[in-house]
Amino acid sequence: MNVYDSDRIAMVLKPLGYKPSSFLKMADLVIVNTCAIREKAEQKVFSFLGRLADMKRKKPDLIIGVGGCVAQQEGARIMDRMAHVDLVFGTSAISRLPGLIEKIESERCQVADIEMTPGIDEFGFVADERRNEKITRFVTVMQGCDNFCSYCVVPYVRGPETSRPPGNIINEIKFLVENGVREVTLLGQNVNSYGQKEGLCSFPELLALVNDIDGLLRIRFTTSHPKDLSEDLMFAFKDLEKLCGHIHLPVQSGSNRILNLMNRKYTRELYLEKVKMLRNLCPDIAITSDIIVGFPGETVPDFEKTLELIKAVEFDGLFAFKYSDRPKAAAARLPGKISEQEKKERLQKVLDQQDHYTTLKNEALVGSIQDILVEGYSKRHRVIDRHSRQQDVQWTGRTSSNKIVNFIQGDGVMFKDEIVAGKMVRIRIVKAFSHSLWGQPVKAEPIPFGLIGEKSNVA
Ligand code: 5AD
Ligand code: SF4
Repeated sequence: MNVYDSDRIAMVLKPLGYKPSSFLKMADLVIVNTCAIREKAEQKVFSFLGRLADMKRKKPDLIIGVGGCVAQQEGARIMDRMAHVDLVFGTSAISRLPGLIEKIESERCQVADIEMTPGIDEFGFVADERRNEKITRFVTVMQGCDNFCSYCVVPYVRGPETSRPPGNIINEIKFLVENGVREVTLLGQNVNSYGQKEGLCSFPELLALVNDIDGLLRIRFTTSHPKDLSEDLMFAFKDLEKLCGHIHLPVQSGSNRILNLMNRKYTRELYLEKVKMLRNLCPDIAITSDIIVGFPGETVPDFEKTLELIKAVEFDGLFAFKYSDRPKAAAARLPGKISEQEKKERLQKVLDQQDHYTTLKNEALVGSIQDILVEGYSKRHRVIDRHSRQQDVQWTGRTSSNKIVNFIQGDGVMFKDEIVAGKMVRIRIVKAFSHSLWGQPVKAEPIPFGLIGEKSNVA
């Protein structure tokens, strides 16, 4: 969501003459787009802002702005604490940003705008200046959240749940596709309740509309709340050919007592039941999740229930976090806080256990042939081919199940000019690493929906 918001910030500031820079030292304006989900993210904001003080001393005209969830939560207090910050703007102030910056430019004053306005700002779509620059993009379909999980700050900093009308979403995706995007990830805190409040279409219906967009190759979405994961949505994985075979389904804990304290409104039994249904409908679906360890009052037996659940599901991947108090969130007032040391040890146990399953899942793909959407050059993009002694290009892309696959274009039977970012290629997986796979292009049958309409690219 912050990536999407950062793109919008860059877009609204363009008419003022600002453009994104890769070099902090060159910047005339620094916007820090912040996250308040965990204490650590917030601490990082303040240490980064602290480092900017020095930069401002050397360059007094530099404008420093703080946006996003920490800005919404702390408001003008940020400027009391850090006098070198010129601007604080909240999560619904992006469209007002140009006016705020102009005020600072002309009056050289400090400005704070954390007013939360209802609804979602609809102010144009963001595309890259260079066409075909990005193959995958995020698109927000809804903002805010009404769930009030007891550990979570989101409802307080992003406001009540609000869905965008389907027409706006479809137009934005069409625009992105015209600009070279081939995969979109639809974003919402709880996509399952998309449109319900406003009486719009359901989320599976929205997915079906997106699935019909010509030129778009893949659809992903995040995040799905287990309590609301409907059969209709499960069937979408089976029925919509562009919807990728991956679901992120945060479980948070394997103990019913803790799930209840977290106000999650499902039990481990219901969660396991939904996982079973998903796998019955889509045997290859990859399932990832979030876990919080050390929630207030979490006993060793509660924690062991979480380890048991991880074992029972065999997730493809897991994000695990040490619980941290968030201001306003109800759990901050719960007794039974767990020590930092205990949280650290529990986190390590979760990560160690999951590593085993991640490796197993990756190894199970060795030998299989996967359709990969090429995203671009990989991080280690120049390699020497030991046999031909030539340099070759290393590409990266993902499987439908969201696993990263790297490969060399000359390392198979495809002609070199056939591989370009944005194209689907068929890859045989030859090696599994802990966080990625290595593959070889194979000449194969045409991929049914995977070809872009540009004739020169067709394999
Ligand atoms: N402490 C630790 N982890 C948290 N998350 C959200 N709030 C907290 C918190 N207070 C985690 C949850 C959520 C993910 C985005 O961040 O696991 O799914
Ligand atoms: Fe936070 Fe719960 Fe809403 Fe997710 S569903 S954003 S965890 S309150």
